[in-house]
Amino acid sequence: MNTAPVEDLPYPSTGAEPVGARSSANPATATAAVAARAATLRASAIREIFDAAQRVPDALRLEVGEPDFPSPDWVIEAADRAARHGATHYTSNTGIAPLREALADKVSRVNGWAAQPEQCIVTAGGVQALHLALAAMLDPGDEVLLPDPLWPNFAMIAHLVSARAVGYRLVPEQGFLPSIEELEAAVTPRTRVLVINFPSNPTGAAATMAELAELVEFARRHRLWLVSDECYDELLFDGSVRSAQAAAPYERTVTVFTFSKTYAMTGWRVGYAFAPADLLAAMARMQEPMVSCVNAPAQHAALAALTGPQEVVATMREAYRRRASAAVAVLRNGGLTVPDPQGAFYLWVDTSGDGRDSVTLAHELLRDRSVAVAPGLAFGASGQHRLRISLASADDALLEGCRRLADYLRR
Ligand SMILES: Cc1ncc(COP(=O)(O)O)c(C=O)c1O
Repeated sequence: MNTAPVEDLPYPSTGAEPVGARSSANPATATAAVAARAATLRASAIREIFDAAQRVPDALRLEVGEPDFPSPDWVIEAADRAARHGATHYTSNTGIAPLREALADKVSRVNGWAAQPEQCIVTAGGVQALHLALAAMLDPGDEVLLPDPLWPNFAMIAHLVSARAVGYRLVPEQGFLPSIEELEAAVTPRTRVLVINFPSNPTGAAATMAELAELVEFARRHRLWLVSDECYDELLFDGSVRSAQAAAPYERTVTVFTFSKTYAMTGWRVGYAFAPADLLAAMARMQEPMVSCVNAPAQHAALAALTGPQEVVATMREAYRRRASAAVAVLRNGGLTVPDPQGAFYLWVDTSGDGRDSVTLAHELLRDRSVAVAPGLAFGASGQHRLRISLASADDALLEGCRRLADYLRR
């Protein structure tokens, strides 16, 4: 096992130089100056490809991580009905009571641990749950252990709360799972939080219950907060659901979920977190000056998603599984190395046979073959020679995009 200490997580973006720093020497531009925290928050490299792809007619769009399915009809109807019947006012900071009850029921039923409605907060997407949780846990200069590769927003949130992001490596030789030895080596007196994300964006890896229990034990040994991002909880291709709290209950765990992926509801912006009482109270207090509450009709839409027919979830999961195996076959036939994802909806393609770094490669692939993929470097230093392909794309576009990529790299 590799015991090299993990290094500071390089800020996973390649954006243009920050503009408008407060130290601007030119008084004429002084009104544009923003705080250093904002000036140094760089645009995501995925967003850059997204923007570039908008300018390429007929580009095959495999860069974005959002379901290509529409939200279920009954979800849309529930929001419409709710708005017409008075759900047009503020709700409590933590969300409407029937939704919190349904969420506790869902977690108990699906995720396998006894959850209470009072432990839950409804948030503006999973991302806001993560933001609230990390802001409630971290003081400036505190350290948070983040995966590398990671979903870039983890590092952006750490940046916004002035915490120090320390990466732990997820490498193919270890099935993209954290090494406990490396985590041990990364702990310092300032370490406060371990963030884990399974099934993983971008690798598609998923820890077993035993592996999750080991990670929880590591967090417990060091009295760390554990943030378990389980936003792809129902998108494990074997149909199992593996939750850290079910693997090993730990009172300093915050578990984050979302409606975005499971029900194809990215635009509604509804996520939720379960947290211990004192932390939840802090998150609820912070909710007031952030968004006050999630918009009321969207909360009713989320309730309808939970209480309506659930076959849609299995149908979408099966589509992602089928696309994964077809796309992996095309890429491997074309000579590329790509691990089989166990869940979520991404392929993490190895491009180390090509000399270009992943940002250059992604832009040149778009220019030369009209295929947009996310450059691995957007997800951290370990993505130098990786591209992330989203399976949440139409079948034809996905397979044609994979063929073009393999063909392009063969030359
Ligand atoms: C790992 C991970 N966590 C959380 C989210 C949050 O999604 P949302 O804010 O739409 O719920 C995403 C979205 O891509 C994600 O990939």
